[in-house]
Amino acid sequence: MIEATEIDVSYDGIQVIWDLSLSVPEDEGVIAIVGPNGAGKSTLLRVLSGLHPIDDGRVTLWGEDASTLEPSEIVEKGFVHVSEERNLFDEMTVRENLEMGAYTRREGLEGNVREVFELFPVLERRASQRAGSLSGGEQQMLAIGRGLMAEPKILALDEPSEGLAPQITARMFEKIEEISEEVTVLLVEQHVHRALSLAGRAYLLENGEIVTQDTGPGLLESEYVEEAYL
Ligand SMILES: Nc1ncnc2c1ncn2[C@@H]1O[C@H](COP(=O)(O)OP(=O)(O)OP(=O)(O)O)[C@@H](O)[C@H]1O
Ligand SMILES: [Mg+2]
Repeated sequence: MIEATEIDVSYDGIQVIWDLSLSVPEDEGVIAIVGPNGAGKSTLLRVLSGLHPIDDGRVTLWGEDASTLEPSEIVEKGFVHVSEERNLFDEMTVRENLEMGAYTRREGLEGNVREVFELFPVLERRASQRAGSLSGGEQQMLAIGRGLMAEPKILALDEPSEGLAPQITARMFEKIEEISEEVTVLLVEQHVHRALSLAGRAYLLENGEIVTQDTGPGLLESEYVEEAYL
């Protein structure tokens, strides 16, 4: 369980998140955060993963104050963030990239690699290939697979379908649904309809503030989303 309570966040003195509260419980499958460009979605994920400080308010991860935790401790506690940039090691192989995802552990990696290969069979076929030589969709699968290697309880995905062809996007959402049967997924997405249809809980973020929250399907029917996206 992750909870943010009334947080303010800024970059170089310019505030971008205002008085934001949200919670990510572990029994609702997919928790979606949707909203326009620049709303603060990626910033929020950076805050939750300990990569950016808050100015006010409080973030707790499984009851512990996030300000006392290093980013690596946040990963060990069970929150893993797959960023927009993917940050793969291009010169390393697919398998080596996966192993890097489990850097907090040394044992039992092979079982995790197997699970990732079962989820994304194409990664097994490309196991010895350089990550930099993969297609965009394959790189996204590898970034997610690497995140899963750390055995998260909550996996945050920042725009996993960005830059993917429509067919690949549809497959990616199927995989996200599959992952969410085992691991809670905190999903930031531009494909609002697809994301909300999957979400047990959803937040609409605009200009750094939560405008409304509901179940995914509930938010899909709300006037806010209808106005903004239909
Ligand atoms: N490193 C940074 N330095 C200064 N300002 C930043 C930085 N990163 C983001 N911002 C600003 O913070 C605000 C929120 O940005 P953020 O990237 O979190 O939005 P987003 O909702 O993820 O947008 P997108 O949908 O385009 O990814 C924007 O006004 C952005 O210009
Ligand atoms: Mg973003």
